[in-house]
Amino acid sequence: MRLDKFIVAVGAGSRSQAKSMVKAKRLTVNGQVAKKSDMKIDPEKDSVCLDGQELVYTAFDYIMLNKPAGVISATEDARERTVLDLLPDRYQRVAPVGRLDKDTVGLLLLTNDGQLNHNLLSPKKHVDKCYEVTLEQPCPPEAIAAMKTGVTLDDGYQCLPAELTILSDYLVHLTIQEGKFHQVKRMFLALGNKVTHLKRLRMGSLTLDPSLEEGDFRLLTEEEVTRLQKNGN
Ligand code: URA
Repeated sequence: MRLDKFIVAVGAGSRSQAKSMVKAKRLTVNGQVAKKSDMKIDPEKDSVCLDGQELVYTAFDYIMLNKPAGVISATEDARERTVLDLLPDRYQRVAPVGRLDKDTVGLLLLTNDGQLNHNLLSPKKHVDKCYEVTLEQPCPPEAIAAMKTGVTLDDGYQCLPAELTILSDYLVHLTIQEGKFHQVKRMFLALGNKVTHLKRLRMGSLTLDPSLEEGDFRLLTEEEVTRLQKNGN
């Protein structure tokens, strides 16, 4: 990894600040003053110090974002604002684990841990995704059995069984184990209803932190990471 990228990754500064640090001889690599900000280092083995303080590199970042409406779940886009635009420079190496629609809010996990990303999205792993759903029409009690059997989407796809909990006429929780395009919205369309607001509350063992406002993020705790890595759910 280039030294200046390392400086960004550990949150010590931007790439241009890394250049200035090198110029000012503030950076050492294994005790030697660094001469170039684009020199190659091994973040796992080399000891990099700034003003004598060792900079600690974590291989992976795990971020919980309370996604607001109006941003897309992508790493870059020519026209739209993406979820990465909500994160500081040092976390720009992560990618969202799955997608939420532009108008969907709530829990979005972002990481550069490709193995975890893959495991949580693998259809074989059946990781739960729980959504709070606001509906246009009142939700009849029969919808619980229909979701449990598995509704058929507009393209003929037969959904896996899903768990529906009715909280009030227009407010429900739906837990699904798949992630097809617009899945929750299409499941309610199949029942003749329409989703007017969608918020993800949980993904596997990871629950949206209620103290996060929309647009806010925090790092996952070690315990949250370990639980996700063990079995997702
Ligand atoms: N289902 C949807 O319809 N939209 C989302 O963003 C997530 C699940």
